[in-house]
Amino acid sequence: MSDPKPKKRLLTGDRPTGKLHLGHYVGSLKNRVALQDEYECFFIIADLHTLTTKSSKDEIAQLRQNIHDIVLDYLAAGIDPEKSTIFVQSAVPETYQLNLIFEMLVTLPRLTRLPSIKDMARAANMDDEAIPFGLVGYPVLQAVDILLPRAHIVPVGKDNEAHVEITREIARRFNRLYGKVFPEPKALIGEVPTLIGIDGQAKMSKSLNNAIFLSDSEEEVNAKVRRMFTDPTRVRPDIPADPDKPTNVVFRYHDIFNPNKEEVEELKERYRKGKVGDVEVKKKLARALNDFLEPFRERRAQYEGKPELVEEILMEGTRRMRAEAQETMALVYDAMGMYGFELARKLDA
Ligand code: TRP
Repeated sequence: MSDPKPKKRLLTGDRPTGKLHLGHYVGSLKNRVALQDEYECFFIIADLHTLTTKSSKDEIAQLRQNIHDIVLDYLAAGIDPEKSTIFVQSAVPETYQLNLIFEMLVTLPRLTRLPSIKDMARAANMDDEAIPFGLVGYPVLQAVDILLPRAHIVPVGKDNEAHVEITREIARRFNRLYGKVFPEPKALIGEVPTLIGIDGQAKMSKSLNNAIFLSDSEEEVNAKVRRMFTDPTRVRPDIPADPDKPTNVVFRYHDIFNPNKEEVEELKERYRKGKVGDVEVKKKLARALNDFLEPFRERRAQYEGKPELVEEILMEGTRRMRAEAQETMALVYDAMGMYGFELARKLDA
């Protein structure tokens, strides 16, 4: 039998700033798990990106735990380290090398016009004048992450779409100047681009304190669902109301996480007639969420409390990524034909 066509490549990842929640899952993680067989997958834990807003020694000291937490979330969600490559960004030296080259291929105004840069500064309580050069370069470093394994597809949340667009521009510009080395990667946005928070705020986020984490226990999920809102204008359960209001968090989550569509329709029907109480709607949601998270808990239990196992997975993934990165850099250096690269190669031989 002839060799099967080589698989296309996928790269995506997260900054290790804390545990992942349901918003991460529906926004991107679900796509990643589903695409593991179709694509050759690379999952980056982007610790260098955290330095753009969190560069203190204390914040750096937290990275070890945060990185391990994220790997556990990946494994719990169903990412298989045998099939996919999970690696740590700062441990791949070619990242720094390609970053400098890419910095020449994008203009400063293109970067400073991006709303995401100011959004990240604001989220870090940083004045505009205090924005470091490295934060402006955030999307360039992200382009490096994506193009180092020459990825074709990038599953991300809506908030990262503009960064993938910059990546395409950098790839195009490199290819035009020096010869074709890079594909033009496409963003793949999850089916629920932004998940509403349990408090009804537009976005589920750890910092807004309105998240259900993939690692939450059954009791934590139950308690969080009990605190959720349905419709504040519906002060009694016998008042007919519209379950499809975008702000009705409990029903929005039913729509997304309850696979029993008949149950959801039946609850909505009674809700419209004023014939169901919030307690029942919430109990059924808590059940659905816990059923959804149960397989996560089972997979997590295999790795929990075993940091050496997690580290082994990171070492193996980083080793694989480094080999890819070296191949890409050889192509980059050949394409550019810079004398210093030639000297460096002779020195390394
Ligand atoms: N910017 C992503 C975030 O919002 C993290 C990230 C870093 C990333 N490098 C990436 C995502 C490469 C996709 C591809 O946290």
